Amino acid sequence: MQELSRSDIQCILDLSEQFIELNRQDNKKLRDLQGRTQINLFFENSTRTRTSFELAGKRLGADTINMSVEASSTKKGETLIDTAMTLNAMHPDVLVVRHPDSGAVALLSQKVDCAVVNGGDGQHEHPTQALLDALTIRRRLNRLEGLTVAIAGDVMHSRVARSNIYLLNTMGARVRVIAPPTLLPSGIERLGVEAFTDMRRGLRDVDVVMMLRLQRERMQGSFLPSVREYYHFYGLDHEKLSHAKPDALIMHPGPMNRGVEIDTEVADDIHRSVIREQVEMGVAVRMAVLRLLVAGGGNGNGGDA
Ligand code: NCD
Repeated sequence: MQELSRSDIQCILDLSEQFIELNRQDNKKLRDLQGRTQINLFFENSTRTRTSFELAGKRLGADTINMSVEASSTKKGETLIDTAMTLNAMHPDVLVVRHPDSGAVALLSQKVDCAVVNGGDGQHEHPTQALLDALTIRRRLNRLEGLTVAIAGDVMHSRVARSNIYLLNTMGARVRVIAPPTLLPSGIERLGVEAFTDMRRGLRDVDVVMMLRLQRERMQGSFLPSVREYYHFYGLDHEKLSHAKPDALIMHPGPMNRGVEIDTEVADDIHRSVIREQVEMGVAVRMAVLRLLVAGGGNGNGGDA
């Protein structure tokens, strides 16, 4: 996301719009990627992102297969390159890769001949998540430019936060991050955000509230006194939400921990929560990305999108 321009982003979002309608029809099948091979190579657990990419590929007519690889902690680099070379020899047209290490997907993309899509690399980036979030916001509020978006929670460990910061800044939105001091990366302001440690202050008059999961699997050591205390200060409930604009959107990339970072009633608020819409937009955005990289007349080596 860091490398994409405003017009790149606009182009992907515009193309995604076309697929939303298709995905709501009985017949969802196109032939844009017919004869092409897509491999989803996941070194880290995933339910929604993998399913979303798989559906996206299949709806475009590609032959899609899934590979889950347990990343060995000792031989990661070697395993990664070996796996890439092995798959490369089978002539795939696109690899969708998720890996627990930041930078691993970019490294892999240098070793293969086909397009590579970043499905999430460590704490670094998760570009298609930011794109689907942008599409969701744009459809609800008709724009991105000039909006104020608060990203709240475990910013430290979040690739979702980073990709959203890049995208929203590129599109002219104002970005705030809200987190306990232990989960706020030092120097985050350099990414062009305003940082807060108080939810009520950070949420004041925002148009969009994006909550993040507490990523305990990425925490080495103790970042929080207790989950209860975290919920008390940082969990999104109706009272904290009342500081945002009255019609502010509520978002969450999932998987959601109800009662940890978000109150269950807020998550299910049919007027303001767009969490399920985000999932729907995910398939459309991934179809757009795959179409542009694989069938879009590119040079076949699209780098990591
Ligand atoms: C996110 C991820 O894996 O980075 N989930 C997702 O892709 N929908 C966020 C998370 O795991 O909390």
